[in-house]
Amino acid sequence: MNKWTPSSWRDKPIEQKPEYPDPSKLSRSESRLTKFPPLVFSNEVQELKKQLAKVNGREAFLLQGGDCAESFDDFNATNIQDTCKVILQMAVVLTYAGSCQIVKVGRLAGQFAKPRSSKTEIIDGVELPSYFGDAVNDITFTKDARTPDPNRLIQTYNQSATTLNLLRAFTKGGLADLHQVHQWNLEFVKESPLGERYQNLADRIGEALAFMEACGVDMPSIRETTLYTSHEALLLNYEEALTRQDALTGDWYDYSAHMLWVGDRTRQSDKAHIEFIRGIKNPIGIKAGPSMDPDELIRLIDLVNPQNEAGRLTIIARIGDLITKKLPPLIKRVKKEGRNVVWCTDPMHSNTVKTHKGIKTRSFDHILEEVKNFFEIHYAEGTYAGGIHCEMTGQNVTECIGGAEEITENKLTEKYFTRCDPRLNANQALELAFLISEFLKKARVKNNYNKR
Ligand code: PEP
Ligand code: CO
Repeated sequence: MNKWTPSSWRDKPIEQKPEYPDPSKLSRSESRLTKFPPLVFSNEVQELKKQLAKVNGREAFLLQGGDCAESFDDFNATNIQDTCKVILQMAVVLTYAGSCQIVKVGRLAGQFAKPRSSKTEIIDGVELPSYFGDAVNDITFTKDARTPDPNRLIQTYNQSATTLNLLRAFTKGGLADLHQVHQWNLEFVKESPLGERYQNLADRIGEALAFMEACGVDMPSIRETTLYTSHEALLLNYEEALTRQDALTGDWYDYSAHMLWVGDRTRQSDKAHIEFIRGIKNPIGIKAGPSMDPDELIRLIDLVNPQNEAGRLTIIARIGDLITKKLPPLIKRVKKEGRNVVWCTDPMHSNTVKTHKGIKTRSFDHILEEVKNFFEIHYAEGTYAGGIHCEMTGQNVTECIGGAEEITENKLTEKYFTRCDPRLNANQALELAFLISEFLKKARVKNNYNKR
């Protein structure tokens, strides 16, 4: 195999690369980025890997969620706080259901680049570059706005830094207090049309908290938590610029986020994205869509995790209604070959449909169905359903159909703000957490309670 360097990906064929009109401007942005401070630290990244190794060992569960695409325009403290809040609320429900630690990873503080099925978009006969995320171009349909602009890479870095700063403050400075988070869950249960269904679980969480308090339990983990960051490693020049060698270990880390994943459109084993990702020591995700086959999966696993290190690699399956046919052969093969991976489900990306009015949406029922199948398949195979990956927001948007509030096709246009894919709103996301708590409990009883 060729020697890896942070720039060895440049010698490989590459998918989804934006075409910048002025390469010298691009080089200037790249070289500025190489001088910027890291956004995360090696010890945090190593800690996340340890947490994911626990998921691999069936002792914890991964919750990964956030925007499909963060945006420069919607950047404000309320949006960040609200998404953070919902992730924490979901985590409390799942912690109780699974009696285990929930490893919380946001699609946040760096999720600004989007792979697209088509390089260009045609509206009324006019053809322009597709929108590739705010890190690349602007969504407005004009030639100027759609032309990739390298200054956006600098803005991506700056917004990521500010977002991370706020996330650190929220999770360490009071917002993550378990009692507070539980209080929000109670409000959700009270207001949800299906609240009665969730009341019992909420009551039991309340009792557990009261019991701990009565016992005088007062640990930092009750008052604060850690929310790790992640995004798709799509713009390899940006990722390369933030990749540095750790002085202590000599290992290379991509300091743009704690965890990076490679999307389903860029995961070819002989191309640039896999070349880049195999050399950095961060925990890595690889998306696996319906076209992933067992041989290719093993090839990717061996390229990215040749030491078979637990916690290094998460396979994020996004298969949709073909999951019952396509996932079991992947799981069986990985199990047979003894490879360590965390299995996570992304029930969003193969469940995207267009309404007859051309609006992109997803149905809450289809999302739930994929999660249910994911848990059932693992249960049957004796493997561990280790996590869930969602596109969601803390805002009260109307982008996905269904849920207790019964968002209908007609309501979609009321509050449809996403830059790219439709997200679960705060109530739908929390409802999903309540609904999957039963699956998680069953999986955990089979896999882990007996270990104690
Ligand atoms: C995404 O996670 O936003 C995405 C584009 O996913 P995938 O690569 O699975 O299509
Ligand atoms: Co998406």
